[in-house]
Amino acid sequence: QKILVLHGPNLNLLGTRQPEIYGDETLQDVNHALHEQALLAGWELVYRQSNHEGELIDAIHAAREDGTCAIIINPAAYTHTSVAILDALNAFDGRVIEVHISNVHQREAFRHHSYVSLRADGVIAGLGTQGYHAALEAIMRATN
Ligand code: DQA
Repeated sequence: QKILVLHGPNLNLLGTRQPEIYGDETLQDVNHALHEQALLAGWELVYRQSNHEGELIDAIHAAREDGTCAIIINPAAYTHTSVAILDALNAFDGRVIEVHISNVHQREAFRHHSYVSLRADGVIAGLGTQGYHAALEAIMRATN
């Protein structure tokens, strides 16, 4: 079974971008570790990162057609602005888990609201990159 892991804007800079907030693991490190975890359990992971809202939306549309059963999404700054990503997720039937590396509720007020949370089945924030692993574990447990 297939899971889409979708990383939003600026997450390509993970590891070098504000490491005091986001840690020093790179996106490649994160994807690699997730891959290991999924493979062991016999799952397929597909990764996408984009700095462009429309590309993230296209990836969600593709997931409707290609047998993807769940999406793990860190919409990054689009979390707080994007009705369009919310609408795209509303057109997807599988499970959706929203992940934030930092604890957005401890940060600026504009990070406290998430459009994506209106659709997400679960939300994980503040666990660092471990949050992605927790999301994957939750999906695999719920779907098996
Ligand atoms: C983030 C939190 C967002 O507020 C921010 O814009 C990001 C990353 C996180 O993973 O903590 O780019 O989604």
